Amino acid sequence: MESMEKIVSLCKRRGFIFPSSEIYGGLNGAWDYGPLGVELKRNLKQAWWDDMVAHHDETATPQGAPQSFGMVGLDSALLMNPKVWEASGHVGGFSDPMVDDRETRARYRADQLAVYALEFIGSDGKLERYDEVLFAAPGEVGKSTPVELFEPHRKRIASLQKGKPGKEARPVAVPGALQDEGLRAKVLAPGASAPGTLTAPRAFNLMFKTHVGALEDNQSVTYLRPETAQGIFVNFKNVTDTSRVRVPFGIGQIGKAFRNEINPRNFTFRSREFEQMEIEFFCRAGEAEQWYQYWRERRYRWYLDLGMKQENLHLREHEASELAHYAAGCADVEYDFPFGRSELEGIANRTDFDLRQHMQMSGKDLRYFDDQEPNEDARRFLPHVIEPSAGADRGTLAFLCDAYSEDTVGGEARTVLKLHPRLAPIKAAVFPLVKKDGMPEKALEIYRTLKKHFNVYYDEKGAIGRRYRRQDEAGTPFCITVDGDTLTAGSVTVRERDSCEQTRVGVAELAAVLGERLGT
Ligand code: GAP
Repeated sequence: MESMEKIVSLCKRRGFIFPSSEIYGGLNGAWDYGPLGVELKRNLKQAWWDDMVAHHDETATPQGAPQSFGMVGLDSALLMNPKVWEASGHVGGFSDPMVDDRETRARYRADQLAVYALEFIGSDGKLERYDEVLFAAPGEVGKSTPVELFEPHRKRIASLQKGKPGKEARPVAVPGALQDEGLRAKVLAPGASAPGTLTAPRAFNLMFKTHVGALEDNQSVTYLRPETAQGIFVNFKNVTDTSRVRVPFGIGQIGKAFRNEINPRNFTFRSREFEQMEIEFFCRAGEAEQWYQYWRERRYRWYLDLGMKQENLHLREHEASELAHYAAGCADVEYDFPFGRSELEGIANRTDFDLRQHMQMSGKDLRYFDDQEPNEDARRFLPHVIEPSAGADRGTLAFLCDAYSEDTVGGEARTVLKLHPRLAPIKAAVFPLVKKDGMPEKALEIYRTLKKHFNVYYDEKGAIGRRYRRQDEAGTPFCITVDGDTLTAGSVTVRERDSCEQTRVGVAELAAVLGERLGT
C-alpha cells in the first residue's frame, strides 16, 4: 500500500486535486479538482449513474434482484425549507462531540481523541499504572490501533524508568476520561505544556447555517444540505405522481453536501464540501430485508467491477449497538486506505422513518397507492426504504489509491495509475514519433478523428519514453504513436499502459479497435 504523501503529491503534480483557494492559503476541508481530477470524478459519477439509474441491471449480482424494478433520477435543490431538517432529525441531532484545547487552540472530535495512562512493568514483573498524568492522542476511541508515543509520553516514561530500569512502559486506554471532570483535569493534550487544558465535550451541529433573503434573522435561517437523501424523500410524492414507477423502485441523486466537520482530514476523505451519490429504494415492509441484502451485494460488486482490488475492499455489517434508532440494518463498504480501513459507502435499511417524519411534519399524505393490489387493505401503505449512500470524493480517492503503482520498465522506474478504462480521465494519447517528416500532421489528423469518440490527448513534446511515462502517471490506457510506417503502410503502434505491450493497428480500424479495448 502506497503512502498518502505519494498520492497527494501525484494529485498536485499532475492536476488531479488542489487545495481550494490555494493562493490565499487554502481553506481547510475544501478541495478543487484539476483538469485530470475533474474527468476522473465525472467518470466515476457517470459510471454510477449509468449502472445504478439509467442502465441498471437486475442480474448484475450472482443471486440477481428479488424482482425487476424501476430506477429514476432526481436533482433537488441544495437549499430547502428548514422544516425538512427538523423532520429529518438533523436540527436536533446531527452533531459530533467536540473538545477544545484552551492552550493550543486546537479543536478535536471527542470520539477521535483517545486518552491513555502509562502502565509500567516493574522489575518484579508486577504491572503498575501511573495515571496522575493522562495523555491524549489522536485515535479512534475504542479502536485498537497502535498508539503513537509523543514527546511528553517519552519524557514521562524516561522519568518513571529512572527508578525502575530495564522494563518498558506502555500506554493503556482510559475510556470516558474526557467526559469525567476529575480525569479530564489530568489529561495532557497534544502539544500542550501542562495537563488540564481540554474543555468538556459539547455537541456541535455539523450543518452550515445560512440566511435566505435580505434579513438575517431567525425567520430566514436555512441550511446547506448535509446529505442529498432528504431531497429525495420530500419529492417522493412528486415522483410517484408524475412517473410510471411502481413500488419497488428507486430514486437516485448525485450532488453536493456540506458538513462543518470538526476535523477535516486525510486529504479529501473527510471534507466540509463533498459530493454524494445516493439511492433511496422504496419497497414494501415485508420485502425490505431481501432488498437490503440485494443492495449490499450490488454496491459491493460495483467497486470490484470497476477494477478495485478485492483484498482492499470489505463489506462490514454494523453491530446492533452502532445502528441508528430507526434503522433495521446497516452495512459499510470499507476500503483499506493508506491511513487505515475506512468507510466508502453505507447501505442502510431505514424502515419508513423518513417518509413518516415528513408526513407528520408536513401534514401531507405520503402513502403510496397500489391500484393493482387485490387486497384492498394493503393498497395504501408507507414504503420502507433501503439507502445505498456513497461518496463521490471518497470513491475517487479510493480508486486513485488502488490504481497507484510503481514499477520498472526497460530499466526505468515509472509511476502508473492502473485505472479502469471507464474511469481513466484520458482514454488515449496520440504522439508523432518525431516532430518532422509529416508525422505531426498525420498524428493531428488521427487525434481529431478520435476526439469525436473519446477524450484523447495530443502530445509532440519531448522524447517518446517521457511522453509514455507522463500518460502512465495520468492513467491513460493507450498511447498511439505515428511513425514512418504510418505514412507508408497506414498503421500506428498502440501501447497498452499496464503491460506496455505494443501492437500495430491500421489507422482505418483504430477507432473501432480502441472502442472495443476500452469497452465503450
Ligand atoms: N444519507 C445518508 C448519509 O448521508 P453518511 O454515512 O453520513 O450517510 C454517506 O454519508 C457517504 O457520504 C459516506 O459513506 C461518505 O462516502 C460520504 N461522506 C460523508 N461525510 C463525508 C465527508 N465529510 N467528506 C467526504 N465524504 C463524506
